[in-house]
Amino acid sequence: MKEFLFLLLVMAEASFRSNSSRCEPGCDCRGDLRFTICSRALFTRLPARVPPTTELLDLSDNNISVIPERSFGKNRKLRVLLLQNNNISVVEDAGFSQLEFLQKLDLSWNRISTLTEGFSIGLASLRELKLSHNCLTTLDSRTFLHLDGLQRLNLTCNTIHAIQVRSFSSMSSLRQLHLEHNQLTSLKSGIFSMLRSLELLNLAGNQINETEVGVFKPLTSMTLLNLASNRLSTVHFQTFVSIHTYSTHILLEGNPWNCDCDLQRVFRKLRSIQRLFLDDYYNLTCKEPAVLEDYRLMDVDTELCLAETVTVLIITITVVITVLAAMLMGERKRKKKKQEKHWTQQGELSDESDY
Ligand SMILES: *[C@@H]1O[C@H](CO)[C@@H](O)[C@H](O)[C@H]1NC(C)=O
Ligand SMILES: *[C@@H]1O[C@H](CO)[C@@H](O)[C@H](O)[C@H]1NC(C)=O
Ligand SMILES: *[C@@H]1O[C@H](CO)[C@@H](O)[C@H](O)[C@H]1NC(C)=O
Ligand SMILES: *[C@@H]1O[C@H](CO)[C@@H](O)[C@H](O)[C@H]1NC(C)=O
Ligand SMILES: *[C@@H]1O[C@H](CO)[C@@H](O)[C@H](O)[C@H]1NC(C)=O
Repeated sequence: MKEFLFLLLVMAEASFRSNSSRCEPGCDCRGDLRFTICSRALFTRLPARVPPTTELLDLSDNNISVIPERSFGKNRKLRVLLLQNNNISVVEDAGFSQLEFLQKLDLSWNRISTLTEGFSIGLASLRELKLSHNCLTTLDSRTFLHLDGLQRLNLTCNTIHAIQVRSFSSMSSLRQLHLEHNQLTSLKSGIFSMLRSLELLNLAGNQINETEVGVFKPLTSMTLLNLASNRLSTVHFQTFVSIHTYSTHILLEGNPWNCDCDLQRVFRKLRSIQRLFLDDYYNLTCKEPAVLEDYRLMDVDTELCLAETVTVLIITITVVITVLAAMLMGERKRKKKKQEKHWTQQGELSDESDY
């Protein structure tokens, strides 16, 4: 009896799993819910039979390596496509081009190293794109060309070392850009142009040691800029002052600050700006000069410029004294000359009176 019941269950399960010829073995096709779940099905390629009514397709945790050209022609209703944790290294041109309603695409934990312009063709409705944990090395103006509606882009944990100007130029709706844990070394002016809706820019865990002065200027909606754990030793006042927003929080912890007098001055000025919030200022530590290593910038703050102030004071006093002395000398000379003139004039007069 027990065995019979079990067999019945297995058969029911099997018939449910492949409830029509349109459901691939290994998938769970919940037609009523418009979900097709094919997670952990040991697929090495995209399944051929997915019900055309499917709106959510979960293909995570398989071993799919290629997304061929025009792959989803029979599944034009997809709104969510999950492909994380596969072995994808190739996305052929126009691979997703028929998914005009797709809102969320998860490609994280794959092995994608390049994306051509064809990748984003047709994805005009996409709101969220996850590409974290891949092998991307550069971004250029074609990588995301057709993603006009994108709001969230996660590029965490790739090996991106270069972002070309205009890489994000089509993304005027983008609100969150996650670039943490990549290999960026410098931020060139122009790479973030057009990102006028961007609220969150996360650049933590890169190797950034240089930021061009105007690089954050186009980001007029930015509320959080995370530059923690990079290689910044100094910053220019203008770099942050040029952020024209109502309020922006800036994180700068975990950088090897060179705590000289200039740096202190920059931070003093930055902290006095009402719209900028240096939330982790109290956690900033010095790397240089060697005597101040591991000291907190805040603690050495007051002493830092003391020597310099004294020097400046001495120079100022010296200059003032010199100028005063010069003026005095000048005045004296002038008086002397005047007197001499007076005497010679008097002499001339007396000469005249001789006649
Ligand atoms: C992918 O294939 C490799 C090697 O055959 C295997 O070790 C791994 O578990 C597979 N991964 C998944 C998610 O099926
Ligand atoms: C992963 O993809 C590569 C080709 O890019 C292929 O050689 C390898 O066999 C794939 N691994 C698995 C487990 O499918
Ligand atoms: C970005 O992706 C990583 C890894 O997939 C994840 O841990 C992280 O939470 C994601 N970030 C956001 C903001 O979604
Ligand atoms: C930043 O690092 C690069 C390479 O490590 C170096 O060539 C450059 O001079 C550094 N720039 C600054 C401002 O320290
Ligand atoms: C400062 O560092 C401490 C200890 O690492 C941490 O708990 C705290 O959240 C940090 N404060 C800020 C504002 O990041």
